[in-house]
Amino acid sequence: MADTILITGGAGFIGRYVARACLERGHRVRVLDSLIEQVHGEKTQADGLDPEVEVVVGDVRDETAILRALKGVTKVVHLAAEVGVGQSMYAVDRYISVNDYGTAVLFQQLIDNPVKRVVVASSMSIYGEGLYRDAEGRIMEDVIRTPRTKESDPWDPLDSKGRPLVPVPTPEWKKPALASVYALSKYVQERLTLTLCPAYGMEGVALRLWNAYGPGQALSNPYTGVLAIFASRLHNGQPPMIFEDGQQRRDFVHVEDVAQAFVLALEHEKAAGGIYNVGSGQDRTVSEVAELLAQAMNKSIAPEIAGKARIGDIRHCIADITRIQQELGYKAKKDFSEGLAELAEWVAQQEAKDLVQEARKELEARGLVA
Ligand code: UD1
Repeated sequence: MADTILITGGAGFIGRYVARACLERGHRVRVLDSLIEQVHGEKTQADGLDPEVEVVVGDVRDETAILRALKGVTKVVHLAAEVGVGQSMYAVDRYISVNDYGTAVLFQQLIDNPVKRVVVASSMSIYGEGLYRDAEGRIMEDVIRTPRTKESDPWDPLDSKGRPLVPVPTPEWKKPALASVYALSKYVQERLTLTLCPAYGMEGVALRLWNAYGPGQALSNPYTGVLAIFASRLHNGQPPMIFEDGQQRRDFVHVEDVAQAFVLALEHEKAAGGIYNVGSGQDRTVSEVAELLAQAMNKSIAPEIAGKARIGDIRHCIADITRIQQELGYKAKKDFSEGLAELAEWVAQQEAKDLVQEARKELEARGLVA
């Protein structure tokens, strides 16, 4: 059955793809977005949204905007959030305000205007370090990254005998370990959704997203995801700046696959009350993606390895996507090299302000890179 879906933060990178996917499924879509400058530049119009999407410009913390946006809505996708792990460690009030108070205001209005289902974008960052295996094959759940004190210290977490631990895919049952303000704020969003929905006859679903990438990512936002930052650097003839040694692992998932996961979370009967990891099922190092992206963009610019870590970053976290595959029939469809080629083609037509040095200086000035 067709629904009227409100997407908070729907003018953003992921929101635009979710909006399109929902329209393709025959739903009506309304977007609430405050069009913040860090993401949207000086634009006052929501670019890149299909014309059928109704746009309400407003802040998720403004109850009158929420009330207006909720009129006639049957399902909600909650994406409105500040998204930079590094920035969250100093813009603490802004991150907690937008992410957590914003979610609280949304729910305050949902209590009086309930919908069938709310799907919240949670994050893999809530896991902290992912699961690891030690030299004896034992699974380690509570790995915590200790800061390096000297150059010769390894980047990878070690077991009690000083042997490196090996990252393994992290399933949803791993306990959260909140290593940044961003992670904490995302966990609060997830818990508010899963606690309040059943209390008021709504269905809550949390999607824990890994690193989304694809055309349309905010290239001039120096706090956006690593692939967009690298693309913007290369586009401007600058080397990508790699934190740590570049061997940290993530799962890069194409934004169309992320949109597919949202549609399943909105529509599938079994999704109600569920928590699902969303990734591609393939992990890669940051160095590897820097190299593959440079190739895709046809740039022979070697990356610069910082040898320093952002405070709040985790070392490795890779996705176990078995649950969403088995329960909801999710399938990561986009091949990584195809996704990079598309990204490169799109970037070539864009203008991207390179603000990465400034952003790095902000972190360094506060001792948040070490
Ligand atoms: C990202 C998202 C977060 C999302 C999470 C899900 C952003 C800003 N953050 O966090 O919203 O919930 O994925 O997985 O999109 N790096 C560099 N050089 C750079 C920038 C980053 O080497 O210029 C490294 C980082 O140190 C880190 C890795 O790349 O090791 C990934 O960083 P980032 O893209 O910020 O992603 P997450 O922190 O994983």
